[in-house]
Amino acid sequence: MRRRIGWTAAAAVLLLGACGRGRPPGDAESGAPAEASGKPVQAAAVGKLPPGVSNEAGQQGQELYLRACVMCHGENAGGTPLGPSLTDREWLEGNGSFEEIIAVVREGVATPKQFEVPMPPRGDGTFSDEQIRAVAAYTYSIANPR
Ligand code: HEC
Repeated sequence: MRRRIGWTAAAAVLLLGACGRGRPPGDAESGAPAEASGKPVQAAAVGKLPPGVSNEAGQQGQELYLRACVMCHGENAGGTPLGPSLTDREWLEGNGSFEEIIAVVREGVATPKQFEVPMPPRGDGTFSDEQIRAVAAYTYSIANPR
């Protein structure tokens, strides 16, 4: 009996996962908000990482992005009413260099130029220097696709 319940749950998870993957890329705007619908939230693939950053750190940065940035910068980092696009190569804060992105993530943006709500420092407020570096490397990479 237990096993049967387990299989049902596993099948439900698989089905949910399949739905999320079946969505066409760049379809983030259509349909209900990703969190509410239970679909996996998408993040842009890791692009060209800054020199000296490992692929593992880039992957970690992608996970951190989904944890602490996606709600404002959006799926695939295309921007939302709470935060600007990170892929348009237009920079409101800094110049888009790896070092400046690290600085923006570390300090946050207390007084945004074009948005109402400040960006918090250190991701969700708890990011270590290493995590800041990883998420900044990922952010750099999606602004500079391969
Ligand atoms: C509460 C919403 C919010 C969250 C969460 C947030 N940001 Fe931001 N982000 C902003 C706003 C607002 C700005 C400043 C835009 C402006 O100056 O008008 C900004 C600016 C930036 C910039 C500079 C963009 C540019 O065009 O110059 C980068 C890079 C950035 N954020 C990355 C991140 C990363 C990485 C995370 C997660 C660790 C994150 N942000 C989390 C709202 C947010």
